Amino acid sequence: MPRRALITSITGQDGSYLAELLLAKGYEVHGIIRRASSFNTGRLEHLYHDPHDAGARLFLHYGDLGCDEQLTSLIYSVRPEEIYHLGAQSHVKVSFELPQYTGEITGLASLRVLEAVRRSGIRCRVYQASSSEMFGGTPPLQNEESVFHPRSPYGVAKLYGYWMARSYREAYGMFVANGILFNHESPRRGPTFVTRKVTRAVAEIVAGRRQKLYLGNLEARRDWGYAPEYVEGMWRMLQQESAEDFVLGTGEAHSVREMCEAAFAYAGLDWREHVEVDPQYRRPAEVDWLCADASKARRELCWSPAIAFRELLQIMVDADLESIGLRPLGAGQRLLERGFAPWHRWQSSVSAVLAAASSAAH
Ligand code: NAP
Ligand code: GDD
Repeated sequence: MPRRALITSITGQDGSYLAELLLAKGYEVHGIIRRASSFNTGRLEHLYHDPHDAGARLFLHYGDLGCDEQLTSLIYSVRPEEIYHLGAQSHVKVSFELPQYTGEITGLASLRVLEAVRRSGIRCRVYQASSSEMFGGTPPLQNEESVFHPRSPYGVAKLYGYWMARSYREAYGMFVANGILFNHESPRRGPTFVTRKVTRAVAEIVAGRRQKLYLGNLEARRDWGYAPEYVEGMWRMLQQESAEDFVLGTGEAHSVREMCEAAFAYAGLDWREHVEVDPQYRRPAEVDWLCADASKARRELCWSPAIAFRELLQIMVDADLESIGLRPLGAGQRLLERGFAPWHRWQSSVSAVLAAASSAAH
């Protein structure tokens, strides 16, 4: 019997990569998607097989994090050995506009998952998608022992989920691991997060479709890594003997300004000619500087990311050029061919990339 996993919100950046990783490892994967009037499964299409096909191992179920009926019934009927709770309203700026909704979907939904598992009596391992945003105003480096000081409704909601996870671990002996992940990006990153906003703009400027890119705070510093490597870390957390919390990040931080400079320069452009500041993209409270101390993950999970900041941007710019029909510049493509062959694209498998990343980490 294959091992079974349930991913809440499999349609997101991490959900799609994780599904791919688990399928490559032989799992049967069940994922929750929400009903939408247009397709929201673009990140999964290359993986999907008709469930009637013999050998189908990916199954999608409608559900919403605002209500636990589907969670409970899936936990009973699927009886997963591992649950990856990834679903969230994950945009920090949006959380200031929708604080109550964010509390409901990003915070309370974690409790819904934990309570559904507890009531079912099924023994399964749970991954809680916690965030470096919980550190907020705490100066770097941040690790598992750092003080939390969230600075957004999103950060506060994530902190609620984090403590619920710990509370269920302590009160009921459940296996619940918090992955405190720093920013991780990819060609599948949502287009309103800053890295993807920049790499898409670079591609469109190269194509002559636009000239300007409007951003908010250019001085904030983030620790940006490559998402497929982070889902490998999530999986490793659930393979440990006992449940613990782990920080994942590269240990290198850059400002939004440096990120623009590097992404535009890769395409032979001067960012200063194209980027303008628009205050509407600023947040009421900013998180100035996040930078991970991931030494615990290195030591105990043998996890260390191979893709660095500039390489990440090269991968993303190449993918965005390709997605609008231009020839990739090639460094991002060559990098993955050399280190992680074969090159993965929007519509094709990253399993080989993940396998290579996994063996590189050992
Ligand atoms: P993402 O791309 O924004 O994906 C979020 C997922 O949640 C999507 O599948 C989305 O569905 C789903 N969702 C949102 N509201 C829902 C609802 N009411 N009911 C059901 N599903 C709902 O996020 P991500 O970057 O993959 O991140 C995965 C998780 O890790 C999130 O919890 C995020 O907060 C956390 N995290 C991310 C990072 C990062 O840098 N990426 C770092 C730390 C923590 P649709 O596709 O239909 O919108
Ligand atoms: N989105 C966005 N858009 N951010 C901008 C812009 C802009 O136009 N201009 C400047 N920024 C700055 C933000 O103010 C922030 O300091 C930084 O760029 C990164 O913003 P995002 O890419 O939106 O990510 P985030 O750090 O707020 O949140 C992401 O990482 C968290 C982990 O630290 C999300 O993935 C969260 O879900 C995740 O938990």
